Amino acid sequence: MTKLIIEGQRELSGTIKISGAKNSAVALIPASLLSDGKVIIDNVPNISDIDALDEILVYLGATVKRDETSINIDSSTIINKEIPENISTKLRASYYFMSALLGKYKKVEMYFPGGCKIGARPIDQTLKAFKSLGARVTESNNKYLIEADELIGTTIYLDMPSVGATINTILASCKAKGTTIIRNAAKEPEVVNVAIFLNQMGARITGAGTSDICITGVEKLGPCYTEVIPDRIEAGTYLIAGALLGNNLKIDNIIPDHLKSLTSKLKEIGFHLDISNNSITISKTDNLKSVNIQTLGYPGFPTDLQQPITVLLTQCNGLSKVTETIYENRFQNVKYLNQMGANIEINDRTLSIMGPTSLKGEEVYATDLRAGACLVLAGLIAEGKTIINDVDYILRGYEKIVLKLQGVGAKIELQ
Ligand code: EPU
Repeated sequence: MTKLIIEGQRELSGTIKISGAKNSAVALIPASLLSDGKVIIDNVPNISDIDALDEILVYLGATVKRDETSINIDSSTIINKEIPENISTKLRASYYFMSALLGKYKKVEMYFPGGCKIGARPIDQTLKAFKSLGARVTESNNKYLIEADELIGTTIYLDMPSVGATINTILASCKAKGTTIIRNAAKEPEVVNVAIFLNQMGARITGAGTSDICITGVEKLGPCYTEVIPDRIEAGTYLIAGALLGNNLKIDNIIPDHLKSLTSKLKEIGFHLDISNNSITISKTDNLKSVNIQTLGYPGFPTDLQQPITVLLTQCNGLSKVTETIYENRFQNVKYLNQMGANIEINDRTLSIMGPTSLKGEEVYATDLRAGACLVLAGLIAEGKTIINDVDYILRGYEKIVLKLQGVGAKIELQ
C-alpha cells in the first residue's frame, strides 16, 4: 500500500493550477451516453474515479479515447446490459449510469453505488424521481432493475436539495415526454455544468443553479464538445494550505465566485485575499480569529471543505465550532488530528475546536477522500514527519497532489 510522507513546516509559494472538478466530470461522463453522437469533454481531471467510469463505459461497449486532459466518447456501440457489482460499487457516481441508461433505453440493471463511507447516503430521492417519471423499480440484494414503458414529465419535489438526485432526475427526464419540473433542486455549480452540457447536445433545460429546474423532453441528443468547470473543492483545499503556510501562494484557473463561502470565512479569520478573475493569492498571517462554520448546500459552506478547514481552525485563537449538517459520519479525521496535538471535541454533529495548538507528525490513516486531504494539510504544518496510510482515497479526488504541492515548496512524497 502506498503512503504519503510529509516533512512539515515548509513555506508554500508559487502557483497551483487547479484541475477540472471531480464532481462535475463524474456526472458529465455518464451523461454523454444520452448523446447519439460523439462527445468530447475537456479539462477532465486525471484521477482514479474517472478511471472507474471509463471502465464502466468500456464494459458497456462504448469507444473511449483519453489524452492528458480530454475524453472522447462514442457510445453508439453500447449494449445496455447489467453493470456488475464490483464495478458499480467502486464509486458513488456510478449511479449516474442508472439515470443515463434509463433516460436512453428505458431500462437499467445495476447495483447500489459505492463512495466514501461518510454517512448512509441513501438514493431514495433518485428512485422517487424515477418512479414519478413512470419507471418501475425492483430491488433485491442491493441490485436494482428499473424500467419504464415510457418516461413522462412531471413535477418532482425533492425532500432535500440532493446533488445526486437533481442530476439523476435531469438525466432521466431530458428525453422524457413533456415537461419535468424539479423543485428544491440542488444549486451546486456542478449541476449547472451538467445542464449546460446537455443543452449543448440539444436538451431543453432551464433554471439550473436555482431551486426550480425545468426540463422539456427532446427526442434526440447530438454530438458536442464541453469543458469541466474548475474544481472548487480542490481549489479550496489549496487555499487553506496557503492560509496555513503561504507566501503569496496563487491558486490559479478557478472561478472565485464558486468559493465565496470559503473566502468570506477566510476574511473573517483575518486573511487578506488578492482575488482576480480566475485566481486567488493568499499568504499566511498572524492573530487568527476563531469562527463558527455550518455546512450547507451551495452557496453555503461545502461539506467537502469541512474536514480540510478544521486544520486551519486548530491554528485560530479561541473556540471555533463546526456543525456538519449533510453527512452523519464526516468526523473520522478528528481522531488523527487530536493524535497530532489538536484539541477537538465531538458532540453529535458539532466539533468544538480550541486553538491554537501546534501539531506534530504522526502515522495516520485517510479514512475517506476529504479526511485524507485534511491530514495532508495537518502534515504540512506539523513539526517532523507525518505518514498517511490508505492514500488511495486521496488519489480518487486530487489530481497530481504530490507534484502540485512539491511544485510550491512542500516536502511530500509517495512511497
Ligand atoms: N440524501 C438522501 N436521499 C437521497 C439523496 C441524498 O437522504 O436520495 C442525503 C444524503 O445522505 C446527504 C444529503 O442528502 O445527507 C446530500 O446528499 P447529495 O445527494 O447532495 O450528495 P451526493 O450526490 O451523494 C455529491 C458529491 C459529494 C458531496 C455532495 C454534497 C459526487 C459524486 N459526490 O454527493 O462529494 O459531498 O454532493 O455536495 O458528486 C466528495 O467529493 O468528497 C463528496 C463526498
